[in-house]
Amino acid sequence: MANKLIAPSLLAADFGNLQRDIEMVNNSEADWFHIDVMDGVFVPNISFGMPVLKAINKHATKTLDVHLMIVDPDRYIKTFANLGSHNLTVHYEACTHLHRTIQAIKAEGMKAGVALNPHTNVNVLEDIINDVDIVLLMSVNPGFGGQTFIENTYQKIKKLKQLITDKNASTLIEIDGGVNTENAKLLTQAGADVLIAGSFVFNSKTPKKTIEDLKAAANN
Ligand code: DX5
Ligand code: ZN
Repeated sequence: MANKLIAPSLLAADFGNLQRDIEMVNNSEADWFHIDVMDGVFVPNISFGMPVLKAINKHATKTLDVHLMIVDPDRYIKTFANLGSHNLTVHYEACTHLHRTIQAIKAEGMKAGVALNPHTNVNVLEDIINDVDIVLLMSVNPGFGGQTFIENTYQKIKKLKQLITDKNASTLIEIDGGVNTENAKLLTQAGADVLIAGSFVFNSKTPKKTIEDLKAAANN
């Protein structure tokens, strides 16, 4: 069975002890760091920006998976590349010229991701799926950690997996929001490749062990 990846979301980390939490992830079975950038316009919340990403990059030893919840992300593609992002994911709902945006991300040497809000049908990616390295399916409404997982996500994963297979694409499916050890196995069975988990990891008393449990559940 393919290796399913775990990406802890630093949105739920203790920012007063950010280096400690980053090192915990470095030393865990996690595969990627998931980094949520919010602008208070595309989503009703503001998280953190460039100086924090710079600090994260200084200590993190794994792939930086950056999720931009911002309007007009084209303005910052170069900036995020320079800050050490490996994957850059933009929202379908925030891009007028998605094809151009994806090409611009790749031109900076990053993997290009497209995120879909819970209400957005996966069919909108039919004509572009072969250009996309990662599709991030939001399994909560973007903007906040700690929300309840939306059950319809399983159907979306299956539909997206079918589209990827039909188009002979190699796109990874990433799930974001409300992921825990209860749903991890069902998500990967449905076709997910990467599971993001924020509050489930960082609110745990033993976060490193929780990452290990998630990894085991995802690959079960
Ligand atoms: C929400 C963010 C998520 C968030 C997930 O807008 O995109 O990455 O950190 O948090 P949990 O795992 O707590 O739902
Ligand atoms: Zn995210």
